[in-house]
Amino acid sequence: MRMVDLIAKKRDGGQLTKDEINWMIGEYVAERIPSYQMSALLMAIYFNGMADDEMAALADSMLHSGDVLDLSAIPGIKIDKHSTGGIGDKISLILSPVMGALGVDVPMISGRGLGFTGGTLDKLEAIPGFNVNMSTEDFIKQVQEHHIAIISASGEVAPADRKLYALRDVTATVESIPLIASSIMSKKISSGINALVLDVKTGSGAFMQKRADAEALAKALVAIGTAHNVATKALITDMSQPLGVTIGNSLEVAETIAVLNGRGPKDVRDLTVILASHMLVMAGKTDDIQAAASLAGDVLRDGRAKRAFKQLIADQGGDATVVDNPQKLPQAEYRIHVQATTSGYVQAIDAKALGLVSMQLGGGRKQAGDALDLAVGLVLHKKVGTPVAAGDTLVTVHSSTAEIGQLTADIQHAFTIGADEPEQTPLVLDVIE
Ligand code: URA
Repeated sequence: MRMVDLIAKKRDGGQLTKDEINWMIGEYVAERIPSYQMSALLMAIYFNGMADDEMAALADSMLHSGDVLDLSAIPGIKIDKHSTGGIGDKISLILSPVMGALGVDVPMISGRGLGFTGGTLDKLEAIPGFNVNMSTEDFIKQVQEHHIAIISASGEVAPADRKLYALRDVTATVESIPLIASSIMSKKISSGINALVLDVKTGSGAFMQKRADAEALAKALVAIGTAHNVATKALITDMSQPLGVTIGNSLEVAETIAVLNGRGPKDVRDLTVILASHMLVMAGKTDDIQAAASLAGDVLRDGRAKRAFKQLIADQGGDATVVDNPQKLPQAEYRIHVQATTSGYVQAIDAKALGLVSMQLGGGRKQAGDALDLAVGLVLHKKVGTPVAAGDTLVTVHSSTAEIGQLTADIQHAFTIGADEPEQTPLVLDVIE
């Protein structure tokens, strides 16, 4: 085979075969295909797209370029949830103990934050002692005993994706739905699960800002999962404002604990229950989505999910007493109140802008590998639809410095305040299966 022929085929709107894709990925990882040729192919894919089976073959080839976890020692359905990333998205921290309390096996392999979005592993590390690095044997044993574990991938997961992603980043080919979908699914499928619920975000704080793009991505993700015998469902959910009222690692753990105590912001509670109900049906706990929602609501109200969270923390070496004493979480030295300069209703919140403020405070990474300040972040006092008077506090900034300079103005600009009360966007916009 010659790479130039594959490039020409894709350029002219053709479809690559499974053999061609396997050959190309193998040769690229072995560094026998130069990046200039791979760049040309990526651009051809960017313009001409990929058919479902082509995308599935690409995901398959990328996933087999590295380690694939064997979870067959855990019988039955092993389900995970993956979010395409948003601001204030702490749902995995709550959802996992909800599922654990209901006896569903959730072997969760999570990631770290980069840029304006946070990561589940960073949030968990705000809990003193919490260890996200575990051997596969210990990971399996924990799930067998207590149903849930949340770890970082060990070994080499989909190295072809890592190499291709770095190339996409410098060739303006990141924003291609088949490339994004095969990238995400190669990593998810390698974790050995057989069912997956995807939370595909859309809005100002999402990777896919436009709803139509989020829908197309959701369809592509589901097609790849299905082709790999992973039962996959995708919910398109709103990220036109931050989820809940906290952004920042320690603050998001505190909000998680509030929800596990039956309190916390309604949007966080509701989205947890909705995602849990789909997972419970897929795991075969019930075939009725309403019954599943009430099971999830019950364990949040009666303390079973809170107990499962304490168990998860203890299992992974953390200090579970933070659940009863959240003040033991890292605390920032300064609290700075940012006020509204006009009156009206909050009509919109630029979630990405607030994510970037949290990053500037030290709560997020400018580049992979940056150390984080787990204590810093933002607490929102106003969300979309709330009336506000000039001088009201919009946000309390938790900072390690007394002065935050330009960040005050950045926060104020992130809020659109106007005379008309805005319509509320529903939390779940669509379900793709
Ligand atoms: N996240 C991924 O894992 N891959 C992409 O291509 C984009 C977002």
